Amino acid sequence: MTALSDFVQHAQHGDVHVLRLANPPVNTLRTEIRAGLHAGLAAAQAVGAKAVVLIGSGRMFCAGAEMTEFGKPRQPPSLTEVFDAIEGFPGVVVAAIHGSALGGGLELALACHARVAAPGAMVGLPEVKRGFVPGAGGTQRLPRLIGPEEAAKIIISGDPVPAEKAVKLGFVDAVIEGDLEAGAVAWAKAAIGKTFTLARNRTDKVGGQDPAAFEAVVAGLLKRSRGQESPKGCAEAVRASFTLPFEEGLAKERDLFATLVAGEQSKALRHIFFGEREVLRILGMPAEAKSLPVERLVVIGGGTMGGGIAMSAANNGVPVTIVETSEEALQKGLARCHANWERTVASGRLSQADYETRKALLTGSTDFEGTVAKADLVIEAVFENMAVKKEVFARLDKAARPGVVLASNTSTLSIDEIASATSRPELVVGMHFFSPANVMRLLENVRGAASSWATIATATEFGKRIGKLPVLVGNCDGFVGNRMTGKRGPQVEKLLLEGCLPADIDKVMEGYGMAMGPLATGDLAGLDIGAAVRKARGTVAPVADAVVALGRYGQKTGKGWYMYDEKRNRLPDPEVEKIILDVAEKMQVRRRRISDEEILDRMLLPMVNEGARILEEGIAYRSIDIDVIFINGFGWPAFRGGPMFWADTQGLKTVRDKLARYAEATNDANLKPTALIEKLAAEGGTFAGMGR
Ligand code: NAI
Repeated sequence: MTALSDFVQHAQHGDVHVLRLANPPVNTLRTEIRAGLHAGLAAAQAVGAKAVVLIGSGRMFCAGAEMTEFGKPRQPPSLTEVFDAIEGFPGVVVAAIHGSALGGGLELALACHARVAAPGAMVGLPEVKRGFVPGAGGTQRLPRLIGPEEAAKIIISGDPVPAEKAVKLGFVDAVIEGDLEAGAVAWAKAAIGKTFTLARNRTDKVGGQDPAAFEAVVAGLLKRSRGQESPKGCAEAVRASFTLPFEEGLAKERDLFATLVAGEQSKALRHIFFGEREVLRILGMPAEAKSLPVERLVVIGGGTMGGGIAMSAANNGVPVTIVETSEEALQKGLARCHANWERTVASGRLSQADYETRKALLTGSTDFEGTVAKADLVIEAVFENMAVKKEVFARLDKAARPGVVLASNTSTLSIDEIASATSRPELVVGMHFFSPANVMRLLENVRGAASSWATIATATEFGKRIGKLPVLVGNCDGFVGNRMTGKRGPQVEKLLLEGCLPADIDKVMEGYGMAMGPLATGDLAGLDIGAAVRKARGTVAPVADAVVALGRYGQKTGKGWYMYDEKRNRLPDPEVEKIILDVAEKMQVRRRRISDEEILDRMLLPMVNEGARILEEGIAYRSIDIDVIFINGFGWPAFRGGPMFWADTQGLKTVRDKLARYAEATNDANLKPTALIEKLAAEGGTFAGMGR
């Protein structure tokens, strides 16, 4: 191979030339790649090549546009110019896809005369997940190959499909077993002289499209994306594929792309996309800090959380043993895991064979010492009680081999105090999973005062290995996520007293995009938990306390802030309204109509203020860590970017002023702007800009 540029290599096999994208591991379409492709096609044409194969290097064919080039002046050649060169090539251009072809990478392939792929290669247009539409013809070429309805499914969901499915749908021509480059060259050689109709010139799939059938498919797809703009933009672009000629469709797509990419939602989605990578880079971690090897996990406690954690391990191929106090509790815990997997098999999302594999990886025991002695990592998930935890850790310390990390899934207790029960505090760390632990991606890893880098590296690497997104946080009550949401409570109380009903607050938060409003979430988690915490802390919440006093603990008792029908639909309950009105009258609060904007502010501002305090204390290292926590563990919509991103977009001066106003108006000392917010507001700074 000769290097055309540093980023595209050129080789020749008789009449067939090969252009290899060489910006591994993911070959984003940065300027040098575009230039290299453009020059490579011209060079091949100049020497009379009859076919060209485009192929990737590293992990995949191509992951798409180089997002770091967005918003900067465009350097030629544009992708469109590259595509023009492909479509104008006097021969066959074949894309050979391995790993994946995503976004601009798939659009590049769609501009080619034909596409072949390695078995299992994934192809898709995930732009919608970054808040925009495919911007290089994907919304016009894909429908012309497979029809607007199938194209809408791929483009609006953003989910890639395997090459085998793409062959069935008709946008990949063949799956090639064995060496992809050799196979693709042979395929291209055989294709020389055959006629290929370029996607742009195809009319057979879009010509007879029934608009009503298309709208029905789109309506179904859009139901899942409440409040988000890019799925609607994708639908509009795909619609243009059968209502407009190709060039006009491209222009429509370009307009939609330009508008959406400049919008707040796309900024938020990209903030999270990059953030989820950034959080894994742990500040200050020395390069030589290495994760300890983990062959076998032992989970102490097979309850709600222990079971979910064990399932995550088995789901990802890690042998795991649950330790319980009695045979009965153990069998109950294992049965819950099995039943969960069986439901997944029944729904068709897990094969029987994979289920058997997972089941074989998950074992149980009541022999605490004997099992722990074989562990490479222990995660404790017993009752949330300091005395119990300390007793368990003292036993773990004696039973586990020296050098083994002991982690606790505690959601509120001090890791340092737990570690003090052992002779190895440097090997103790928090691994705070979220419920349901086999589903939720967030893992708050809690660093104790003595936790070593190797311990932190082990918690991080192991978390990644079992499919989680680990975010390192400091040790404090509630850590980051629960500590921040906890600060909403007093404002919920005040809003209820001043004029809201539960549904008013939930409606605003769900309208903002939250999976579930705070009161409905309380009903799901159990209102008795919050009541117990208040009791322990000696605080009161007159309305919530009155609700709990009536035995209304939430969904588990059939009623809480709402009442629930047999299908668990929530309904407003006049009894709750009466409680609220009675308490307000007793406390002499005059009720008024409260605007949606005020509700949203009073739900988000307390969290932002606490987030700032968490940054001041170094409990979270960067504001992006906080945002990633909320997106992955608290049902916060990614297209809103998280609480700290929200504050930055409001402007911290506005945030400061509103906090000060509500602190006074609602007599809530928690809302007094923190020193960090005062400082950033005065400097015109942002959370995201800190330390940059
Ligand atoms: P759970 O009550 O469902 O399970 C605890 C299990 O531990 C029980 O099955 C019990 O038999 C077992 N156990 C108690 N002492 C033991 C011992 N000495 N040896 C072995 N097993 C023992 O409780 P859950 O909800 O699973 O909570 C466990 C931990 O996870 C707590 O620290 C909790 O704060 C934390 N957590 C809970 C979340 C939730 O949403 N439920 C979320 C995140 C963390």
